[in-house]
Amino acid sequence: MSSTYTRLFRVLFVIILLKLIFLVVLYWRSYEGVSKLTAGLSQSQSQSRRMVDIFDQLLVDRREMPSMEQRLRWIRQEMPSFPLEELLQRQRRPAGRVDCGPAPDLMNIDFHNTYWQRAQAENLTYYIYGAYYDDREAVPEAPLVRLLTMINQHDDKSFKYPATYCQFWMEDRDRPVIVPVTEHKVMWPFGHAPRRYYPTFMGCRLPEGRHRWEVPQMVSLVADHCDRARNLLRVVYEVDAVEQLPASESQPGNGSKVSTPTGREEDIEEPPLRFAVCVKAMDFPYEDKSWRLIEWLELMRSLGVHKVVLYDAQMHPNMTRVVRDYVKNSPGFVELRPMSLGRGEPHAPPHFHHYAMEADGFNRILNEMIPYNDCFYRNMYKYDYIGVFDIDEVIMPLGNRTTWPELIEISRAAPDYGNTTPASCKEWVSFCYRNVYYPRYPERPKVYRNLSSSFYMLQHVERVREHCNRAAATKCLHDTRFAVGLHNHFTFYHTEAASCAAKSVPIEFAQMQHYREPDTKSLLIDPIIDASIWRFQPQLQAQIEERYRRLGFLPDERQLAETLERRRLEDELILREAVGQNPE
Ligand SMILES: *[C@@H]1O[C@H](CO)[C@@H](O)[C@H](O)[C@H]1NC(C)=O
Ligand SMILES: *[C@@H]1O[C@H](CO)[C@@H](O)[C@H](O)[C@H]1NC(C)=O
Ligand SMILES: *[C@@H]1O[C@H](CO)[C@@H](O)[C@H](O)[C@H]1NC(C)=O
Ligand SMILES: *[C@@H]1O[C@H](CO)[C@@H](O)[C@H](O)[C@H]1NC(C)=O
Ligand SMILES: *[C@@H]1O[C@H](CO)[C@@H](O)[C@H](O)[C@H]1NC(C)=O
Repeated sequence: MSSTYTRLFRVLFVIILLKLIFLVVLYWRSYEGVSKLTAGLSQSQSQSRRMVDIFDQLLVDRREMPSMEQRLRWIRQEMPSFPLEELLQRQRRPAGRVDCGPAPDLMNIDFHNTYWQRAQAENLTYYIYGAYYDDREAVPEAPLVRLLTMINQHDDKSFKYPATYCQFWMEDRDRPVIVPVTEHKVMWPFGHAPRRYYPTFMGCRLPEGRHRWEVPQMVSLVADHCDRARNLLRVVYEVDAVEQLPASESQPGNGSKVSTPTGREEDIEEPPLRFAVCVKAMDFPYEDKSWRLIEWLELMRSLGVHKVVLYDAQMHPNMTRVVRDYVKNSPGFVELRPMSLGRGEPHAPPHFHHYAMEADGFNRILNEMIPYNDCFYRNMYKYDYIGVFDIDEVIMPLGNRTTWPELIEISRAAPDYGNTTPASCKEWVSFCYRNVYYPRYPERPKVYRNLSSSFYMLQHVERVREHCNRAAATKCLHDTRFAVGLHNHFTFYHTEAASCAAKSVPIEFAQMQHYREPDTKSLLIDPIIDASIWRFQPQLQAQIEERYRRLGFLPDERQLAETLERRRLEDELILREAVGQNPE
């Protein structure tokens, strides 16, 4: 009996011992014991462990999700006219019952080609791009809100527009304030063609009474008084004093104009005049004009321009880099705004949109009125004069004046070339300067042998002899107190009681230098040298060089050698082909 027990114990003991040994071995194998035994195996293992670590640390964006505030700021840049922030604020408030003109929400909005919204009345379609509050002293209808639209109705004084209404959304009010549209200002009096949309300012006055001097936060255009609107636009009213630019960015004058749209005369000490420049949609997808853009922007800066507003269409990637660099490093000086065509051709950049712009010149020109007027109304409270230019145009003060503030001073005193405005005028809506062409003259030798051809305007100082006539291709500086609707060469509308029409300033004071080929080729003969631009030297060249350097436009030694070698081989090839083809 006892021996059976003893045997059973022995067997149990052996089993337990074996299990223990097995566990110890298992433990040993799975830990560092193994690494001591088999060095080679260990290496490959830790390698795979490192691989795991690497894959755990993929270089993906691990930043926090953006806040709602940040997202709303981005959306505001993407869609400047659509007041999403304001709409959400309104929706958070407990709303009273509104029988007439219930507020639209996102699902009611009839968006069109990203930046536009639609309204319909009878057989007219309205594409609305922007809305602007106008309370300028010289405007008799003020205060009013202007809607910048494209409508399928050309300028026709006998045409009666269907009745439409503005629903004004005030900040703390559930119900809209509703007024009739009282004004249609078509900005194209010249001619028309079927299927086009015409740039038109629609005007809605603030009503007499309690809301007269309140600035509406948003506005909708409706066909019937009490409709639920299908569109909702932020009312632009930007009067904040312009941010102080860093000293290097603001050359002439350094004070920022505290915005007083009215009462400039009463100021005892006049603040320096402020200038903004508006440029239409930048449509340069294939030709690299980046270097020309730098030179032009730096010249604008030297002339006393405080801000240049560009509208985005499609630019060569190098131009986009240049614009981004300015937007980032000269904040306040260059602004790039989104844009698409009003009729609806999609902004599919770069190729289709460029094609659509090119394919119908008339449609394109009608659309150009939109950026000019959007830019003007966004900036009219912050700047004294606004000009509309292409990047090959420069109003050049002459004589002993080199800046636009000095030029305005003399333009007020100068006679009107052609005497078309009465001698009694005290104010003019615009000062205009006569156009003169500075052609390329590719076959003529450089005027400055010691200056690189990478300075286009500094190098191209030969111009045609004759200036164009008073109105032909002229460009102007528009007084922001008086201009109402802009074309690229003049104003369509201005405040006629408060100011005279435009004055053409004689060429002894300034000229509009146009860096392109004249339409009349006979003008090309017998050019003269007019190097007024050299008065900005050597600072202008230094400013341009600094940008070229920073953006990497200047080749290094190796790139230079390669370029020269490539050019030499190309020349040789051309020479050989020429010789081969013409053996005599
Ligand atoms: C709208 O109707 C009027 C009157 O019938 C007509 O004269 C006009 O051409 C129409 N406009 C459009 C865009 O169809
Ligand atoms: C503005 O210019 C004046 C005179 O040129 C100078 O005394 C003043 O310090 C400048 N102010 C600023 C803010 O740069
Ligand atoms: C330019 O010259 C005129 C006349 O000699 C003088 O009255 C004026 O002050 C000068 N302007 C500048 C900016 O030097
Ligand atoms: C180049 O020539 C112009 C005009 O002859 C002169 O004013 C300028 O100082 C010269 N520049 C250099 C760097 O030599
Ligand atoms: C301009 O574009 C060309 C062609 O893409 C490119 O090789 C060059 O580096 C660009 N220049 C700059 C300064 O980015």
